[in-house]
Amino acid sequence: MELPTWNYLLNLPMQTIKVKEKRFEIAIPANRIAQRVEELQAEIYLNYQDRTPIFIGILNGSFIFMADLLKGYPGDCEMDFIKASSYEGMESTGDVKEIMGLKTDIEGRDIVLVEDIVDTGLTLEKLLENLKRSKPSSISIVSLLFKPEKCQADFKIDFLGFEIPNEFVIGYGLDFDGSVRNLKHIYRLQES
Ligand code: IMP
Repeated sequence: MELPTWNYLLNLPMQTIKVKEKRFEIAIPANRIAQRVEELQAEIYLNYQDRTPIFIGILNGSFIFMADLLKGYPGDCEMDFIKASSYEGMESTGDVKEIMGLKTDIEGRDIVLVEDIVDTGLTLEKLLENLKRSKPSSISIVSLLFKPEKCQADFKIDFLGFEIPNEFVIGYGLDFDGSVRNLKHIYRLQES
């Protein structure tokens, strides 16, 4: 039986949804995300095959991406999470608050930081600075999305899912004021 979807409940065309009085349209459908995540998994594995990297997901946004990326990862790996936040509503505040620290000892280890989206890049820049103090042997960055027009930071994304324009996006872990992380497609704000 088909379960009712948000679109069905709101009686809107399949491609659009309404969240907190704003309309969003599908930007990256779930099947395209799944395909790219599989490719990223292979790229990362080829890079680390004889090592045991520690994947560190940056909460909350990366939880779905991290799970999909590591489900069936063909090599040995460990994982942990770190919590950071710099976003309010639809704007990055640039004021990064590290809320929950890392429990794993990362000294001498290969770290793969897993981010949902790099926007201004300030969150990752701050976390990188922080993690480097624990002397890991290497740190690489994987991000599902990247907004190059907005980025003010100076680091390289080693494994990137999609480059996107400077638009507000939601779904697949990304929230709008705490909601809609559970949407399976990625949606963009529609121009009004
Ligand atoms: P940055 O520090 O500006 O790079 O922002 C990093 C964090 O802001 C991401 O991990 C997301 O949680 C959030 N963020 C950035 N852009 C968006 C967006 O378009 N939609 C929802 N959240 C976003």
